[in-house]
Parts: sequence; C-alpha cells; structure tokens
Amino acid sequence: MNLLQYQHQVDAELDRLVPAETTPPETIHRAMRYSLFAGGKRIRPILCLEAAHAVGDAPPGVVTVACSLELIHTYSLIHDDLPALDNDDYRRGKLTNHKVFGDAMAILAGDALLTLAFQVLAQLDLPAEPKTRLIEELTVAAGTAGGMIGGQVADLEGEGKPPDASLLETIHRAKTGALLRASLRLGAICAGATRAQYEALSCYGEHVGLAFQIVDDILDVEESSEALGKTAGKDAQKRKITFPAVYGLGTSRRMAEEQCRRAHLVLEPFGSRSAGLHELADLIVQRKS
Ligand code: IPE
Ligand code: IPE
Ligand code: MG
Ligand code: MG
Ligand code: MG
Repeated sequence: MNLLQYQHQVDAELDRLVPAETTPPETIHRAMRYSLFAGGKRIRPILCLEAAHAVGDAPPGVVTVACSLELIHTYSLIHDDLPALDNDDYRRGKLTNHKVFGDAMAILAGDALLTLAFQVLAQLDLPAEPKTRLIEELTVAAGTAGGMIGGQVADLEGEGKPPDASLLETIHRAKTGALLRASLRLGAICAGATRAQYEALSCYGEHVGLAFQIVDDILDVEESSEALGKTAGKDAQKRKITFPAVYGLGTSRRMAEEQCRRAHLVLEPFGSRSAGLHELADLIVQRKS
C-alpha cells in the first residue's frame, strides 16, 4: 500500500472513531475533528501498520490501534501550541485549535482525544493479554518518566538554558521518540511478534524517532512557514534546546542520516516484508514538512 492509501485508511477509521460534529456537545466534537482532520502526515499510524506487516498477519483491529497513536499525537500538538506552552498560531496549515475555539475548548479537545485513545484500545475485540500490553505501552510512551509529557516538561524547562548535548538527547528521545517507538511496538504486538522481533522494531523506532525530531528541528530553521504549515523559526525565538543550536545544521543533518542508516540495518531479519519501513525511514529524513 502506498502512503496516500494508508493515509485514507487511517482517516476513514478516525472518522469512524470520533463522534460526529452533530453529537452533543457539538463544540468539543468540532474542536477534536478540526485538528484531527487538518492534514497530518499520519506517520505514527503508518509506522504501526508497517511494523505489523513486517511481522506477519495482523488482526483487522490493527487500524484502530494505529489510530490510537494519532489521537495521542494530535492531543499533544493541540496542547503544545497553547499560549502557555509554545504559543503557536498555525498548525497543519490552519489556525491552531485555541485560535479558533479558545484556550478552554482547546485544552478540553486535547483531553478528549487523549481519553478517546484509551477508550478505543479498551474496546478492541482482542484477547486480554495483547490488549493490556497495548494499553500499557501507550500509557508509558505518553507519560512522564521518559515519555512524551516528561519530554515536554524538559523542553519547556530547557528554554533559555545553554545548549547541552546530553539534555538535548534526553528531551528528544522523550518528547517525540517515545511515541514513535511505541508506534512500532503496538504494530508488533498486534501481529504477535516474537521477543526478538519486538526488540528489533523497538530499536528501529528509537533510530527513526531521534532522526524524526532532529529533522523537525532542522526544518524549523530551513523551511518556510508555508511549507511547514506552522510558524518557522520558533525554536530560535523561544531559545529552545535543539540539534541545530547544539551541533549546527550540517552536523545535525549528518546525525539524522546516521540514525536513518542504523534504522535500515536493524530491519535485516525482516527481509522484503520490511520494504515499507525502509521507505518510511528515508521519508522521515528526506521530508520537507
Ligand atoms: C510534529 O509532528 C510534532 C513533533 C512531534 C515534532 P509531525 O511532523 O508528525 O506532525 P503532523 O502530524 O504531520 O502534523
Ligand atoms: C512537539 O515538539 C512535541 C510534542 C507535541 C510532543 P515541537 O514543539 O518541536 O513540535 P512543533 O515543531 O511545534 O511541531
Ligand atoms: Mg514544543
Ligand atoms: Mg511546538
Ligand atoms: Mg519543532
């Protein structure tokens, strides 16, 4: 399946999972859908689906599992953009959620997407054992110790601090890497991966996860707001600890490519079944938005 087909599959499932705009209270469902269908790349769900494919045959519910990652991701973006966090006006080429619906509704829309992610996992038609593992993986990745929230805390507390290589890696592995690694793990669990397959896909996830955020930092410097769909140059303005700030653009680019190279290597045991994951690793490093 190509990228566009995957995106359509994910969008159709998200549409099924999220209450209609006409379901009361209408405002919250409109706010949730506004950000969810604003045109995200769907990298996390697609990684999940391709991880499952690399292992073998996944149950039909894997698309729902993939969508749980996008629900968490979109919640994290809505909150990341709030005035109290990064204070951004544009996201996915549109005004940010709080600019349209107000801060209170944006906070609640984020909360609602977060809650819905676990509702859809809990309601999966799967045996208790894989289901509990899926829920645990996602909670830990979205959580405070080494997870997304922990990374966001360190990112905010790092503003204005001297650029520090070790702090930088800790922030990036947590704020972005944890959810990306979980994307691979959820797909692996759905498809009944062996311990060795789970470890290999986790390792791939760590490499592409770090590469992903290095590139996000580079694009913030190099690309236009129009290309990104979000305001460029925000990291320097906020004095964030980023890869370009610590290493410069050239070294950052080489580091992303090195992570990509390592990601390719760990896929070896999967043979041709991991063709999609090979393509995704390249896409993550070569993307322009
Ligand atoms: C942007 O993520 C935020 C980060 C975690 C760096 P994406 O680049 O995947 O954003 P969308 O989902 O395509 O909008
Ligand atoms: C956001 O990182 C990470 C999460 C939302 C968890 P950034 O703040 O760098 O993302 P952008 O650049 O605003 O998309
Ligand atoms: Mg941020
Ligand atoms: Mg931000
Ligand atoms: Mg960024």
